[in-house]
Amino acid sequence: MTVAVTGELIATRKVGAFTHLTFVAPGVGEIARPGHLVSVAVGDAVSALVARRTVPLHAVTPSGTYGGTVDIVVDGDRDPGMRWLADRRVHDEVALIAPLGRAFPLPQEPLPCLVVGVDTAAAPLAWQARALRDRGCPVELVVAGSDDRHLFGVVEARRTIGNVTVVTPGETGLHEPLRAAVRAGVRRQDAAIVYAAARAQELAVVTPLAESLGAVTQVAIHEDMPCGTGLCSACTLPVRGRDDRVHSIRACSDGPIVRGARVVWDQYLAGLAGELEARA
Ligand code: FES
Repeated sequence: MTVAVTGELIATRKVGAFTHLTFVAPGVGEIARPGHLVSVAVGDAVSALVARRTVPLHAVTPSGTYGGTVDIVVDGDRDPGMRWLADRRVHDEVALIAPLGRAFPLPQEPLPCLVVGVDTAAAPLAWQARALRDRGCPVELVVAGSDDRHLFGVVEARRTIGNVTVVTPGETGLHEPLRAAVRAGVRRQDAAIVYAAARAQELAVVTPLAESLGAVTQVAIHEDMPCGTGLCSACTLPVRGRDDRVHSIRACSDGPIVRGARVVWDQYLAGLAGELEARA
């Protein structure tokens, strides 16, 4: 079930390089879970933008004092649509559809988990970590970003979860320190599941490493999803089926959470690079 509402913006604040927005959205908080998406209409009569952007829900509250709210975190430097969103002011109204997609699955029994997030993709992870902890799972977090201003949720995660490793780029970039943090995190607690949220480049690094260390990976795809509802087919993701054949699913409606081991990462990365080239 999804809810389509016109949400009034009731709070906006800068968090490092990102913008944290809170909208009134009755009915979403009752049904949304960590990993779900929200599709947001961007643009107006004067902006020349007519599209949607789809981002993970950072947090929700059920109907109460403010009638139910959803929180999102956007990077205004990512593209003009995200800039338009980041520039909204309190009392502006935006059309929202949520919750969309597939949420993070929770283990049936308490298992040690490592939760990994990069840049704004990390937005839902403190929520997911709390859900895991409430199920009795020991949880550690790895929060990564391209610099200190692009780390999201470290303070909240330290306050609510405690075990947080922060990763920023080393001399050779982000991938090597990210790999080292994931390796150490999985080994330290013998993690059975790694939940990771990031762009494909980082997920393609984290997934094979975590699987090679014996963990199951559940990954949140954080690539462009124009509609978020499964209609535009702009977010195809190659996955390997049970019959070992590769087929395409839609990252927004069949994901954004998928088993990392199912994704054919080299094919996916090549497809994303081709799209970028075509747009240039
Ligand atoms: S973003 Fe349109 S189908 Fe996924």
